[in-house]
Amino acid sequence: MAFKALAIFASLASLVVAVPQASPDAATTASVRCPDGNIAPHSACCPFFALRDDLLENLFQGVCGEDAHQAVRLIFHDSIAFSQSMERKGIFSGGGADGSVLVFPDVEANRAENAGISDGVQGQLPFLSRHPVTAADLVQFAAAVGITNCPGAPRLKFFTGRPNATAVPPEGLVPSPADDVTTILARFADASSAISPDDVVALLSSHSIANADHVDPDIQAVPFDSTQNTFDTQLFLEVLLKGIGFPGSANNSGEVSSPLPIGTAAQPGELRLQSDFAIARDPRTACTWQSFINNQELMQNAFVVAVDKMSRIGLKNPQNLVDCSVVVPQPVAKVTKPATYPATKSFKDIQQACPKRFPSLASDPGATETLVAGQVGT
Ligand code: HEM
Ligand SMILES: *[C@@H]1O[C@H](CO)[C@@H](O)[C@H](O)[C@H]1NC(C)=O
Ligand SMILES: *[C@@H]1O[C@H](CO)[C@@H](O)[C@H](O)[C@H]1NC(C)=O
Repeated sequence: MAFKALAIFASLASLVVAVPQASPDAATTASVRCPDGNIAPHSACCPFFALRDDLLENLFQGVCGEDAHQAVRLIFHDSIAFSQSMERKGIFSGGGADGSVLVFPDVEANRAENAGISDGVQGQLPFLSRHPVTAADLVQFAAAVGITNCPGAPRLKFFTGRPNATAVPPEGLVPSPADDVTTILARFADASSAISPDDVVALLSSHSIANADHVDPDIQAVPFDSTQNTFDTQLFLEVLLKGIGFPGSANNSGEVSSPLPIGTAAQPGELRLQSDFAIARDPRTACTWQSFINNQELMQNAFVVAVDKMSRIGLKNPQNLVDCSVVVPQPVAKVTKPATYPATKSFKDIQQACPKRFPSLASDPGATETLVAGQVGT
């Protein structure tokens, strides 16, 4: 009885909400009422409301901490493992954005090229068993949800419909920080012809909320910019500063000298990847890199577009994905503070590689080197 009444109510409700949507993506789909009462553009979106709430409460726990960082890194390590050129030669090259990192949790996570992803993988596995979604969709969705805990983050798109991985990708498809720019750009283009050098720069906005545990084996959680808990443009400014030393040992593969090497246990100094250094200065990418400095909105929008492209790598029928972006939460806060030079630094410390006018920025006050922000949460 109660069920029947509910069913009638549900069908009436879905009639009531079947109004045309303003967004072009939703224009052809009427809204549906999910079993849990949420309104979605398509029934395929329904499981993601409960998954979202579970992730926010039990994985990301209100901070832009390690779990959010890891979730954003995982979309890269899952998606990039695909090669169009190998596929053309008939060699199996993985499924791209297929969730293979979760479906075979003991394989890719143990490869040197993926050093550091295992915590992210282990953190997401319980959500795969609790929710009726594929591993591939979970990886993409978790990043879109997790990044909203980082002030300054954009609201990423989320589409569902990726099948589960059926096999692990071969090794050797994940770029290394020791690779040169030509190799890195070629690797992205081979994964998806849609990904341009500009998109690669945009994707590196992710290193604004990042730290390294494995580049220098002696020190952990060493951030790439002075504000690892904020999705801001400091990364693009700071990577252009002259390097003066290392936060830990010198001579690590994939690491070059940093402008802010001074560290303490709580504030470990800044670490610079050789790949970020080189992409910031390469003629193919330097102007896009520079354009993001102090231009939060440009960086955010470019990141949304590039992540969407990366999330379709290797998919056989990307046109069949269903847009569930409405389920993605609003980011917690905007960044309103302009980019600034760390204390003691100014334009004289910039190694400018793009001939266009450099933005005019203030320097943080203080007579000693800025100590970088430590990691929040666990
Ligand atoms: C040019 C290609 C890239 C290279 C060579 C690269 C390299 C690295 C390295 C070496 C680390 C440190 C890992 C560790 O030692 O713990 C790292 C961290 C990270 N990367 Fe990348 N990366 C690249 C592209 C990307 C992309 C496309 C994304 C996502 C859109 C991404 C997101 C992250 C994040 C969020 C972290 C921090 C993880 C944490 O704090 O736990 N990276 N990256
Ligand atoms: C995808 O794989 C995971 C892990 O093996 C499993 O829990 C889930 O039920 C699978 N989903 C589908 C739709 O096959
Ligand atoms: C780093 O490597 C260079 C060349 O291989 C060597 O000359 C130098 O002593 C090394 N520095 C350290 C601190 O190990």
